[in-house]
Parts: sequence; C-alpha cells; structure tokens
Amino acid sequence: MQTVTSISEMQALAAGLRAHGRSVALVPTMGALHEGHVSLVRLAAMKADAVIVSIFVNPAQFGPSEDFARYPRELEADLAQCNAAGAHVVFTPSVEEIYPKGYSTFITEEAVAKPLEGVSRPVHFRGVTTVVAKLFNIVRPNYAVLGQKDAQQVAVIKKITADLHLGVEIVIAPTLRDPDGLAMSSRNRYLTATQRADALALSRALRRAQEMVSAGERRVDRLVAEATHLLAQHRRVRVIYAAIVDRDTMEAVREVRPGQTILALAAWVDEVRLIDNEIL
Ligand code: PAF
Repeated sequence: MQTVTSISEMQALAAGLRAHGRSVALVPTMGALHEGHVSLVRLAAMKADAVIVSIFVNPAQFGPSEDFARYPRELEADLAQCNAAGAHVVFTPSVEEIYPKGYSTFITEEAVAKPLEGVSRPVHFRGVTTVVAKLFNIVRPNYAVLGQKDAQQVAVIKKITADLHLGVEIVIAPTLRDPDGLAMSSRNRYLTATQRADALALSRALRRAQEMVSAGERRVDRLVAEATHLLAQHRRVRVIYAAIVDRDTMEAVREVRPGQTILALAAWVDEVRLIDNEIL
C-alpha cells in the first residue's frame, strides 16, 4: 500500500492506473476509521481493480462552533486499517495542499442540500461538495463508495455528480451497527457510557418505524410522532429533526413509499451531535 500526500503525485498515480486499464474506486473519508469504513474499502475492492482511500479532515465542512479542532486524527491506526482492508493507495493531503492560500472556488448544490442537515449546519454541504468534487477531479475514479449512514450526503453527492457530469458511479454501502444497535460513527467515541445508553434511542426509534411500516403503516405523521415520542423518553436526547423524506431529493413526503423513503434523525445527546437513518 502506498501513501501519497501531494495532489500531483496522486494525479500521476491515478493516471498510471487508468493507462494500464485498471478501474479505480475511491473511498473518501476523514479518517478515524472504524469497521463501517473498513466495509466501504472492502466493497470498493470488490468493485474495482485499485482502491484509493482519501483521509482528509476537511475544514470547509465544519461550522465555526463545530468539532474541527478536536475531530479525532489517528493516521497510523488508519493506515493499518486501510492496508488490512485491501486499499492500494491512501491519499492524505494537507489542508494547504487542498486549500492553498487565496483559494476561492466552492461548489454548492442548492436543493438536496437545503433541508435537514442543511438547516442546522448551513456551511456543511458546501464544504462536502467542494472537497468531493476536488477529490473526483484529482483521482478521476470509476466508482466512489459512500455509506448510507450519511444519507443526505449520499443524495447530495449523487446530485452534483449527475449535474456536473463527473462520470463517477456512486456505490452505497449499508450502515454498520454495533451489537447494541448504535450506527458506527467516528463521533461515537465522544460518548460516555451513560450518553451511549441514551444514544441507542435513535436506532430503537428507527427500528420501531420499520416495524410499523412492515405492519402496514404508511402515514408519515404517525411514524414521526412515534419516533419523536420514543426519543423524548431520554433525558439527554434533544431531537434536531425527525423526518421522513424521499431518499434522492430529501423532500418531505406524506406517505411512505417502501424502498424510496427514509426516516432521518438528528439529535444531540448532551453535547454530541448524532445522525442516523433507515430506509423505510
Ligand atoms: O463522510 C465523510 O467522511 C466526509 O463528509 C467526506 C465525504 C469524506 C468529505 O469530506
């Protein structure tokens, strides 16, 4: 496995792979890798001849009061995980490499990015779309593998990929959960044991909604009311949003359309912000 830090070296390496007819899958990450990321790398290895993992804590997608400074950075452990999972190249550029002095070009998606996360994290998707477009241009992968855990991110990246003719096939990997049901996330390490116990309310609320849909319930108001009620049982949990939306457009719907709608949740567990979702 090779580690690359400069854009020019990454471009040359990816061009070499393409010249040899090898398909390339990119797994964009911010590091602090867990089993969920490992599953993305494994899926990428099944899709393409060469797997490139990017590790870049992207300042542009954090708001001023968010956790950019304390976001976990553990490059050595991340490299070991990438190697074990079958990555061929890890691209770890510096902030100065991606956003040199005077940098002034940003990409905004203006529909899918607006609701849900877009309301409470207004600069987030502008940062995500900008860095992802840059990574796609640098690597020019055939595939990019993303996790369903960040459902709105998936939808936004699919949209910019189509709108800007980026020519990358977006592959979505299912959310991995710990045995207690908590969706794997680099931010779970911020949780104390008691906070984690309350955080399980999110996956329970999602499971309950799935059960209700399996039993024939389609009305969004009833499903959301039940999910909100379950979340409200937990003292440390403050709901930011609980919404059933179309999985591609993120627009609110009135009725569940099985397979096409998701229940998306975001909540504070004390000072830790968590998101989760399930396809209903
Ligand atoms: O999901 C993430 O880790 C990030 O938002 C991404 C896609 C790597 C862009 O920085």
